[in-house]
Amino acid sequence: MRSITKEFPGVKALSDVSITVRAGEIHAICGENGAGKSTLMKVLSGVYPFGTYTGDIWYQGEIVEFKDIRASERAGIAIIHQELALIPELSITENIFLGNEIEHGGRIDWRAAKLRAMDLLARVGLDEDPDTQIKHLGVGKQQLVEIAKALVKDVKLLILDEPTAALNEDDSQHLLDLIRGLKAKGIASIMISHKLNEIEQIADSITIIRDGQTIETLDVAAGGVDEDRIIRGMVGRSLESRYPDRTPKIGEVFFRVEDWTIQHPQVPERLVVKGSSLEVRRGEIVGIAGLMGAGRTELAMSIFGRSYGTYLSGRIIKDGEEIVLKDVESAIEHGLAYVSEDRKQLGLNLLDTIKRSIVSAKLRKIARRGVIDNSREHGIAEDYRKRLRIKTPSVEAGVSKLSGGNQQKVVLAKWMFTDPDLLILDEPTRGIDVGAKYEIYTIIQNLAAQGKGVILISSELPELLGIADRIYTVFEGQITDDIPASQATPENLMRSMTSAKKKANA
Ligand SMILES: Nc1ncnc2c1ncn2[C@@H]1O[C@H](COP(=O)(O)OP(=O)(O)OP(=O)(O)O)[C@@H](O)[C@H]1O
Ligand SMILES: [Mg+2]
Repeated sequence: MRSITKEFPGVKALSDVSITVRAGEIHAICGENGAGKSTLMKVLSGVYPFGTYTGDIWYQGEIVEFKDIRASERAGIAIIHQELALIPELSITENIFLGNEIEHGGRIDWRAAKLRAMDLLARVGLDEDPDTQIKHLGVGKQQLVEIAKALVKDVKLLILDEPTAALNEDDSQHLLDLIRGLKAKGIASIMISHKLNEIEQIADSITIIRDGQTIETLDVAAGGVDEDRIIRGMVGRSLESRYPDRTPKIGEVFFRVEDWTIQHPQVPERLVVKGSSLEVRRGEIVGIAGLMGAGRTELAMSIFGRSYGTYLSGRIIKDGEEIVLKDVESAIEHGLAYVSEDRKQLGLNLLDTIKRSIVSAKLRKIARRGVIDNSREHGIAEDYRKRLRIKTPSVEAGVSKLSGGNQQKVVLAKWMFTDPDLLILDEPTRGIDVGAKYEIYTIIQNLAAQGKGVILISSELPELLGIADRIYTVFEGQITDDIPASQATPENLMRSMTSAKKKANA
């Protein structure tokens, strides 16, 4: 791609960006949130068609002018977007072959499609019935279906925009192996990721983009490329430490969940949370570690106004009194906040503007006699824009126009605005660049320093070890261990995350 420039109203997303990908290599693109990575890949894959950008795309020796995604797909370029794009109501097979159906005499051959799908699922390591509807799969599994869907096309260049953001360590490694396997078959990949350790492992070259401009391309084989080197390129300086220093001031237990049991919403005989108890002290950051599907999100959501599953039994005690949180409204009323791991489906209304999104969980705070005070709304949104460094020309812009990481910051701002006593964060740094992660950790620590309680669900063990005071492990819906951060290691966490060793914390 030579001298690519792409503008949106009021934003120059890319200016004069160039990138060269060699046949069969794995080429990474790194850069801060809003740097222009996804936009560049949308230009390449025809999402932004020829004519809407300037500059040239050279592919296999000639200039290509893709007029849509189908045109780039025909040329062997497949893109897996940052935000998953499967149809929830359709099955795995139907999604894989959507727009690419196997035909026989003018009819779709579903039998052949299903067989092919099973083959593809095995290749990506997803153990699911191909007839399963997408909506019953977690984000991690959906990601694997996306890859199966790309493989069904005769792909020569695979573009992966943060493919491992929603995956745990094991699944991420599996996916990286898959990409390496494709490379061995001559398929080149372009991969965008904020997980720099993965980039370091897998990339042959790395192009760094900052503020819509190419900064440099690093040749990994030449040596000397490590995470710190990449960060220096991304932010223009070194980052001394990944986790801000903090001396915790931990007070009394103020929030307790006792013997919490939740049934699966569709399958009554399945208990997704089983007799789990936990407590949070004032000023404490409590981590929750568990594998994908262990029930961490289900636990959090069911506490947060029973927004998941069917409540069977259990009590919630806050400030010494039992409270009953029958819906989200009452949870907010009682000072709880929940930042969802799924920002697109649950975290944001994508039709709203940034400022509307930020105030949406507590409109009463900006109302005067039941009418929203527009200038306060604007002022508050501006304040969060500055504090969290949300990259946008204006808070009046739609949230759908923000880059992924910046959308995440809006979700955080929304819940900070409710001024909660207990903030539950579910994968809050997913898709967030290293610099902004540090800012988010600082925000979490500041909330704790104000005497609030924080529950942090994270698939990244280093993150839990870096900022939690105490970590619960969850395995198959049960809390299996309760480990003070000073004693936690990746090994003992992993052990408790993968076995029902101990009974629920007594
Ligand atoms: N459809 C759009 N309309 C207006 N502005 C847009 C649109 N899409 C992207 N932008 C802006 O272009 C810039 C680059 O966005 P892009 O999504 O490419 O960032 P990114 O590098 O992928 O970031 P992230 O790591 O957060 O995903 C951002 O400032 C973003 O707000
Ligand atoms: Mg992006």
